[in-house]
Amino acid sequence: MWLRLALRTTVSTLSDAERLKVAVLISGRGSNLGALIDAAACDLPIELVGVFADRADALGLQRANTAGIATCSFNPKAYADKAAFESDLFAAVERSGAELVILAGFMRVLSAPTVQAWHGRLINIHPSLLPKYPGLHTHQRVLEAGDALHGASVHFVTAVLDGGPVLMQVQVEITDGDSAESLAARLLQQEHRLLLASVRLFAARRVQLVKDQIELDGQIILEPLLLTDDADVFS
Ligand code: GRF
Repeated sequence: MWLRLALRTTVSTLSDAERLKVAVLISGRGSNLGALIDAAACDLPIELVGVFADRADALGLQRANTAGIATCSFNPKAYADKAAFESDLFAAVERSGAELVILAGFMRVLSAPTVQAWHGRLINIHPSLLPKYPGLHTHQRVLEAGDALHGASVHFVTAVLDGGPVLMQVQVEITDGDSAESLAARLLQQEHRLLLASVRLFAARRVQLVKDQIELDGQIILEPLLLTDDADVFS
């Protein structure tokens, strides 16, 4: 059974100091980052304390710079190994004061020590209804499988690729004539809603990971929350 999530519509009364400090890791265009930037300027009670990329030409960095958010890129090829790269990257993330780190199109698999160090504070948005289709090319794979539904998931990051506990999902119907591109474009709009709704729960300090179980308002959730069409992401 899916849990259905009703998001309240309330204007945030949090002071700046109470806003959740969020860092975002990207590799590319950064549309999910853009959704966070727009919502933070509106009523999502977060402070974007840094945007970090694994390539200097990630488009999302420009978006963050324009919004006045600190940015930094780290070139993995400049490091002797993955451990050294992640050590520098996450030292910078730590210095940013981030309480929550969001992988939003960050195209690298993080090593177990890094993931463990950030246990419960590291989430990822993935374009499939996990546990279906971890990894790449999810839109093409869902079409080839003949599924009727596609979707996206926000999950905690563990050492297993796209395998951590799933907090929330959104579904889209697959229509006749869908291509991987049309499906990706339609899903992306829903991904933005999903990410904002998920981050809103963190900002309200309603979610935590206890061992490997997600608690919402102190209660373990056994299935992912489902973001419905009528849920208000700007609640
Ligand atoms: C999104 O589809 C996200 O689910 C996946 O990578 C893509 C990033 O898109 N992990 P954007 O860079 O946020 O536009």
